Amino acid sequence: MKRHLGKMILTYATVVFISGCSGDKKDNLMIDTKNETVNEKVSQLLSKMTIEEKVGQMNQYNGFWDVTGPIPKKGNAKKKYDHLRKGWVGSMLNVRGTENVREVQRIAVEETRLGIPLIIGFDVIHGYKTLSPIPIAESASWDLEAIENSARVAAIEASAAGINWTFAPMVDISRDARWGRVMEGAGEDPYLGSKIAQARVKGFQGDDLSKPNTIAACAKHFAAYGFSEAGKEYNTVDIGTATLYNIVLPPFKAAVDKNVRTLMNSFNELNGVPVTGSSFLQREILKGKWNFNGFVVSDWASLNELIAWGHAKDKKEAARIASTAGSDMDMEGNVYIEELTSLVKNGTVKESILDDAVRRILTVKFELGLFDDPFKYCDSTNEKENIGNAKHHEAVLDVAKKSIVLLKNENNLLPLKKEGQQIALIGPLANDKNSPLGSWRLASEDNSAVSVYEGMSKYKGNKLSFQKGIDLITGNEAFTQPLTINKTINDNDIEKAISIAKSADVVVMVLGEHGFQSGEGRSRTELDLPGKQQELLEKVFAVNKNVVLVLNNGRPLAIEWADKNIPAIVEAWQLGTQTGNAVAQVLYGDYNPSGKLPMTFPRNVGQVPIYYNYKSTGRPNREPHVFWSHYTDSENTPLYPFGYGLSYTKFEYSDLTVSSKEINKGNNLTVSVKITNTGGYDGKEVVQLYIRDLFGSITRPVKELKGFELIKIKKGESKTIEFTLNNNELGFFNANGEFVVEPGEFEVFVGGNSTETLKETFVLK
Ligand code: BGC
Repeated sequence: MKRHLGKMILTYATVVFISGCSGDKKDNLMIDTKNETVNEKVSQLLSKMTIEEKVGQMNQYNGFWDVTGPIPKKGNAKKKYDHLRKGWVGSMLNVRGTENVREVQRIAVEETRLGIPLIIGFDVIHGYKTLSPIPIAESASWDLEAIENSARVAAIEASAAGINWTFAPMVDISRDARWGRVMEGAGEDPYLGSKIAQARVKGFQGDDLSKPNTIAACAKHFAAYGFSEAGKEYNTVDIGTATLYNIVLPPFKAAVDKNVRTLMNSFNELNGVPVTGSSFLQREILKGKWNFNGFVVSDWASLNELIAWGHAKDKKEAARIASTAGSDMDMEGNVYIEELTSLVKNGTVKESILDDAVRRILTVKFELGLFDDPFKYCDSTNEKENIGNAKHHEAVLDVAKKSIVLLKNENNLLPLKKEGQQIALIGPLANDKNSPLGSWRLASEDNSAVSVYEGMSKYKGNKLSFQKGIDLITGNEAFTQPLTINKTINDNDIEKAISIAKSADVVVMVLGEHGFQSGEGRSRTELDLPGKQQELLEKVFAVNKNVVLVLNNGRPLAIEWADKNIPAIVEAWQLGTQTGNAVAQVLYGDYNPSGKLPMTFPRNVGQVPIYYNYKSTGRPNREPHVFWSHYTDSENTPLYPFGYGLSYTKFEYSDLTVSSKEINKGNNLTVSVKITNTGGYDGKEVVQLYIRDLFGSITRPVKELKGFELIKIKKGESKTIEFTLNNNELGFFNANGEFVVEPGEFEVFVGGNSTETLKETFVLK
């Protein structure tokens, strides 16, 4: 496929795209006229660069050791050093610590011909050393301020360790709990996902990217990775345009609107094209329609995977396809560095493609201030003072408490009484200091989490006894031997656990998944409690009914038996460094739980993918015969719906009103609702607003979240909350990706979760 560079210049807002046309397709090459100075500096530098040096900027090397995936060529550290010295490396990942970063940066700026600094990337997914809850957990807080603050803490620590670019936030919408990477995202909803994407980008990048404690963010994985078929990692993705435009892309667009400086593409294909080679996604949508002026990094060696997918026959073709499609930087694939120079020299790839990619990369480096001071992130005093400091522990504890979701609390078993109680703490995860750190914790110390046992031990008024009952693999071997995590390696202590349960007033059981059971490469076919945990739970329950089940997990679990039998269930995910303190404060009522599920919990794995914003189907109604949309062996409803979460107090919704029963397109509709705290505690509630567009040129979901507010209400108090709806909320993307607002009847729902709501109606004219 030959491309001919056209001369046409298209102007969008402040960005000029020099279009290299193939047929009528734009290449969307960028010159940012908004920032003339940076732009001029970049142009000057570009004009001095050789083709090899340009390709070098598009080459990212891993820090000489194997971290997240197979290295295409092992043992090539020497080659990498040589390339670094020649100026053939634009970025490195997984180099950390001021001393290490200073050294590679020194080589880049002092030993190469042009002295272009490196941009240093790292997976700061939920903190650097001091860890926040895993992202799915943090999303359960629906607290955008706390989420932004948690990203801020991560940026401060990472930047103090020499890093200036994080591969976060992961903004993939995911509906399939079998997929291990649901732990990295914000769950199933594009509206919530977009708000959280923006909060995280803001937290990482701050208001001024050139400050030494802000870092460039990276919205990933562009796009549709979360829709891997059957929840199987790295699998094919085949979705229609309605889902792509309305569900998958909005959080990426939101991140771009917040000026996220980079995006990462991904390992999946989308409708037959591996996305690393997708011009449609990267050139047409991202760099075209959305005017994105940052750069795109490939996922780990995903350029090479074009070959395994059967899309490119060799590395040469992979280099041509990916560069032309708009993948600006090759992460550890060695494809660009090996192939691109000759492809440009022989005219297969236009040099303008390189110029565009390098311009984007250099622009971000200028914005970070790396040309002013390449060592600005390499201050060892700052490193000592900022990494793991007490303020950061406070911040992650704050967000950890807010991330906990109370799923069930029969007879007010919770909060626990603080005095005079005999508490039996049971379970293989109850005194685990490693697993609560969760997946993606490359720079944290092993076993550095506060365990639930440690957290609960601080409440001295009760007598606490502990038995793990069974042993799962809970050390770091869980990372390297994921298949063994399901297995119980020792069940000798079940009797001891039963014995302490018998004499206890209340039993707290900490069960669930190991921190390494979710994350990349961790798909599951079952969503139950792994190993003999279910057996342990049932045996303990048989001798003491006062069981509080504390779940640790990185994805929704199917816990139908527990829901039916266990009186109190607390979803505590993996909450990072401060896990035990957060859990204890919630159990003892020092924090009244306020989290709400960002992902639907299924009754069983067969219901997956299950999500609240499903379509009605042509046969939605329960019929006396079998020919309606349902299962013959399970309810359609989930175990816990999206947006669900209890509090120790009670909230009552009333007085839902719309400002008008009819509005004209473009006008605002105000929706108001009264919430009263009728329980015995002060509390916080996430008030959620959903709409349903009853008839559309493409079918609309039965509910769509279009607003939420986290409010504090004292016991006995009422508050009235107002939401505004307008075109942005009422419209949708049609099959061509155009945003349309169609007149018609709407329903509006407000409540404390996606299923228990008040309803009003209005007509859009
Ligand atoms: C993951 C990315 C990650 C990259 C670098 C890949 O395997 O898919 O999310 O940023 O590795 O560690």
